[in-house]
Amino acid sequence: MSDTFTENRIQNEALLTVNRLSVDYVASGQKPAAAVRNVTFTLRRGEVLGVVGESGCGKSTLMLALMRLLPAAGRIVGGQVRLGDVDVLALSEREMADLRWKRIAMIFQGAMNALNPVRTIGDQIAEAIRLHEGIQDTAVLNRRVGDLLELVGIASGRRNQYPFQYSGGMRQRAMIAMALACSPDVVIADEPTTALDVMIQAQILQLLSDLRRQLNLSILLVTHDLGIVAELCDNVMVMYGGVLAEYAPVDVIYNEPRHPYTQELLKAFPDPTKPTQRLASIPGAPPRLNALPPGCRFAPRCPLAFERCQTEQPPVYDLGNSHRASCFLVETPVAAERSS
Ligand SMILES: Nc1ncnc2c1ncn2[C@@H]1O[C@H](COP(=O)(O)OP(=O)(O)O)[C@@H](O)[C@H]1O
Ligand SMILES: [Mg+2]
Repeated sequence: MSDTFTENRIQNEALLTVNRLSVDYVASGQKPAAAVRNVTFTLRRGEVLGVVGESGCGKSTLMLALMRLLPAAGRIVGGQVRLGDVDVLALSEREMADLRWKRIAMIFQGAMNALNPVRTIGDQIAEAIRLHEGIQDTAVLNRRVGDLLELVGIASGRRNQYPFQYSGGMRQRAMIAMALACSPDVVIADEPTTALDVMIQAQILQLLSDLRRQLNLSILLVTHDLGIVAELCDNVMVMYGGVLAEYAPVDVIYNEPRHPYTQELLKAFPDPTKPTQRLASIPGAPPRLNALPPGCRFAPRCPLAFERCQTEQPPVYDLGNSHRASCFLVETPVAAERSS
């Protein structure tokens, strides 16, 4: 009982608050591409929030914006990001460098292939701690590296091995250790299991789930796999064409999805209990970002679209109980936010 109480209290603490965040990619002589528009969500301590949507819908862009690690063409053009009481977008580069990895860290898409092949795993983890925390003491570094490796399920004796001596799954564990090196509160995992086979995927997800409990981590888990979401996430944000299509607790997303895009995504994913079932796919492709439709971004592919959807962008409607959806079909008198 008291455990539940503690858990609820902890879960209620909003750690990361993202308000109407928008990102453009700019290229000279071209119209800016609206990669992320007015995305709003909160991540609580100890929460795993799944971020799903087809490839190209802005998931990685959103995550890189939160880390303030957008590629050169990327620009944050609106919104606020708060991490605890820190206004992240108001920080200088230097202040941000101080926050990054220590309070918010990221496991990049395909990261396990980014390890330096000619340095030992232990060296690379030690280097991360040295860089971000300025620790030089070899004994301290050694202990920290050993603890981190054990934490992610690698025998600390293997610190002296090189990446090629690790399996794919172990390399990904090492990358997770690296992300955890400076004890961040928030970990962003961008498709952390995409390049791994199914068995190893399950182990890495189990590891993330264990770490969340053990360290009370908050995790933003980006994936296009709704099966993964069902296993690990508390809440789910569905993105389409750079905007939030739907947000809800995980059981609500599965059982009462309100946005036609979420409904189509669910149809497209196999039932986890029927692994051989054929995948349906959603006809058509996500919109080109510099040639967006004038109305709802999903309208050209939406089986339920009507006239208004072609001309007007739906706001994000608040359906109560942490459920939000951006679709005229759910229209209620209380619009949470006007989209612009
Ligand atoms: N460096 C970049 N320059 C210009 N456009 C980009 C860049 N990176 C991504 N994009 C575009 O931004 C959109 C969102 O991409 P991304 O955030 O990678 O989506 P996701 O992670 O959901 O697959 C895509 O249309 C992609 O082509
Ligand atoms: Mg991506």
